[in-house]
Amino acid sequence: MKKEFNLLANGVKIPSIGFGTYKLGENEKAVNTLKHALEVGYRHIDTAAFYGTEEAVGMAIKESNVKREDIFLATKLWNDCHGYENAMNAFKESTKKMGVDYLDLYLIHWPNELNADTWRALEDLYTEGKVKAIGVCNFKIGHLEELKKTAKIMPMTNQIEIHPGCTQKDMIEYCKENNIQLVAWSPIMRGKILTEPIMIELSKKYNKTIPQITLRWHIQNGIIPIPKSSNEGRIKENFNVFDFEISKEDMLKIDSLNKNENVSGVPENTNYLKY
Ligand SMILES: NC(=O)c1ccc[n+]([C@@H]2O[C@H](COP(=O)([O-])OP(=O)(O)OC[C@H]3O[C@@H](n4cnc5c(N)ncnc54)[C@H](OP(=O)(O)O)[C@@H]3O)[C@@H](O)[C@H]2O)c1
Repeated sequence: MKKEFNLLANGVKIPSIGFGTYKLGENEKAVNTLKHALEVGYRHIDTAAFYGTEEAVGMAIKESNVKREDIFLATKLWNDCHGYENAMNAFKESTKKMGVDYLDLYLIHWPNELNADTWRALEDLYTEGKVKAIGVCNFKIGHLEELKKTAKIMPMTNQIEIHPGCTQKDMIEYCKENNIQLVAWSPIMRGKILTEPIMIELSKKYNKTIPQITLRWHIQNGIIPIPKSSNEGRIKENFNVFDFEISKEDMLKIDSLNKNENVSGVPENTNYLKY
């Protein structure tokens, strides 16, 4: 049951699980954690200008035995970098911090009034070959429809909060129709999934941990989860999800946990969530 890559609209391969770096820190421990994740087999790293982890990510890539071209590296521009020139500068800043000359995926972190101008910068970076793919995060269907009016290239990914407590079925449907790959942040609900009785039952049935069942549920739904962990054992555990299959019936049981629940708030300075 091994399926390690998904294909983006432009044919670029994206590993079907990624490693999240929010709250990983920016010190030697973070570098070692990232090197461990690469040793375990993760080949997709999700960072952001906002996380303060870009330098650690760059250092870990340099110090690891994995070649740069074998790593799918994604980062995001923060809310104070919208607009064409600011976005171009944010790209330069992020790549400089990581010591890389291209990105695999560059993302808008949160929607903003200036989406159209910012997106034009991402399109230019893509056309110039400086990024292999471009995408957005936290865009609702309305934001994507509005972007469609001015975009020459549509986002190849949308990274949003998805987990059993927030299944996002409408967005999944929309992204399928529009060939946009969904990436799930907080895929294991920042740990809140661990006490859910249905998940405890499924964990016993499949002889897998609750995070493994949850991550497998994402992958079988065609969604790319990017779990974060600073713990060596849990990093390995979260990657070990390619040797079993959840039945259709059990997939539906997990779907039934949906409460449209958010496990994290939106940043205070995000004022463009009108959709
Ligand atoms: N685009 C956006 O706006 C956005 C927003 C939020 C997050 N993200 C991205 O998505 C990534 C993941 O989301 P997240 O960090 O919010 O949440 P998450 O991955 O659902 O959960 C991380 C939390 O779960 C714990 N954990 C991880 N694996 C575990 C396991 N196997 N068993 C028990 N506990 C476990 C971690 O603790 P330990 O470290 O101690 O293991 C950490 O406290 C982020 O790191 C970031 O890259 C993007």
